[in-house]
Amino acid sequence: MKFEYYNPTHLIFGAGTLARLGEVTSAYGKKAMIVTGGGSVKRSGAFDRAVASLSAAGVSFVECDGVEPNPRLSSVARGGEIARTEGCDVVIALGGGSVMDAAKVMAAAVYYEGDLWEMFPHGQANRRLPERALPVITVPTLAATGSEMNSGAVITDEKTTIKSFVGAKCLYPKAAIVDPELTLSVPKDQTAYGVCDLITHVTESYFNGVDGTPMQDRFAESVIATAIEWGPKAVADGSNLEARAQVQWASVVALNGWVQTGCMSPFPVHMIEHTISALHDIAHGAGLAIVNPAWMRFAAKSRPARFAQFAHRIFGIELKSEEDMEAALQGIDRFEEFLRSIGCPTRLSECGIGDELLNRYAEDTLLVAGNAFGQLAGRPMMTQADIVEVLRAAV
Ligand code: NZQ
Ligand code: ZN
Repeated sequence: MKFEYYNPTHLIFGAGTLARLGEVTSAYGKKAMIVTGGGSVKRSGAFDRAVASLSAAGVSFVECDGVEPNPRLSSVARGGEIARTEGCDVVIALGGGSVMDAAKVMAAAVYYEGDLWEMFPHGQANRRLPERALPVITVPTLAATGSEMNSGAVITDEKTTIKSFVGAKCLYPKAAIVDPELTLSVPKDQTAYGVCDLITHVTESYFNGVDGTPMQDRFAESVIATAIEWGPKAVADGSNLEARAQVQWASVVALNGWVQTGCMSPFPVHMIEHTISALHDIAHGAGLAIVNPAWMRFAAKSRPARFAQFAHRIFGIELKSEEDMEAALQGIDRFEEFLRSIGCPTRLSECGIGDELLNRYAEDTLLVAGNAFGQLAGRPMMTQADIVEVLRAAV
């Protein structure tokens, strides 16, 4: 194993921590841009409480609202323009992953010359990463993406319907205020999709990472087991603050880089899913619930021992041998049943999606994430035909 770990985000976790927003923000300036989505934070009262905390700390604000789920490049450009013309010192993201991702790129847009889409891989010859950004404070209202404590952002170019990602040091939030009370109003379906998303963040590295990372295996298993224990409680009773807190902590850990450290893992399931949520505007976590089990059945053929380990350690399935394929497949079935039990779709047809565009999804996946040989990185490497095969199994 050989690795570096870097994560500069100051994490403040716990019920009621939203009250610290003003104090935390005031360390970065006197004028903030608050980025929000379609209105949930206004309805829940979170916005008013955020503003009260800022006012008490002497921080003024302007607003950039209306960021859509699966955020569009035009919204990001609009927010960058507001922050620049208003002379904001700091950007506050108050919302789900879409709001946080958009806010990060808005913060970078203030300094970025030219077309923002050049940050995002989409088949272009030269990619230009952002090098500077305004300080960002994240305040997640949904437990899912882990965007609050990582350097990534996922944006859709609505002109081409390509969804792509950027990761850069300057996009790490300065602080993440993670207050589980803010997630009490998340509806059942989005709660379940968040649980699926956070689990998939760690299954990616568990199944696609390099060999010889036993501690990271245990980290990933711990995240999965925690999500399987507490996720259904949060879905069944949204007002269960303890369940909300456990799920949210799991979602932070799942993608703040710690579990993946040293795994050097690509994220093939994510790369495939992004093309589906880009074209059909479905929730990312719902898309993952469809793609991940189908991908697992495909990948298990070339790596049965790893999937047998998953079956044994997560679901207690007895193994007849280290490479017990029957047990491996049982584990995947159990995982899929779990996703269904909390209300996730596990087939494209449940989202009204047919098989007409399977080739298009595969092409778009490779456009964004393919290597020079037209393959998608992962274990195993996937060709366009492999991606189509996985998706056909998920129709
Ligand atoms: O827009 P509002 O009105 O706020 O409503 C949202 C939205 O409709 C609602 N919601 C959020 N918090 C709520 C709430 N409703 C009631 N009460 C609350 N407290 O939930 C809906 C979905 O929100 P969204 O932000 O889109 O969901 P999520 O957090 O799952 O984010 C998904 C986006 O993140 C990207 C995805 O691709 C997708 O675009 N990802 C970002 C990653 C990252 N930066 O590290 C990694 C992920 O793998 C993912 O790809
Ligand atoms: Zn995800």
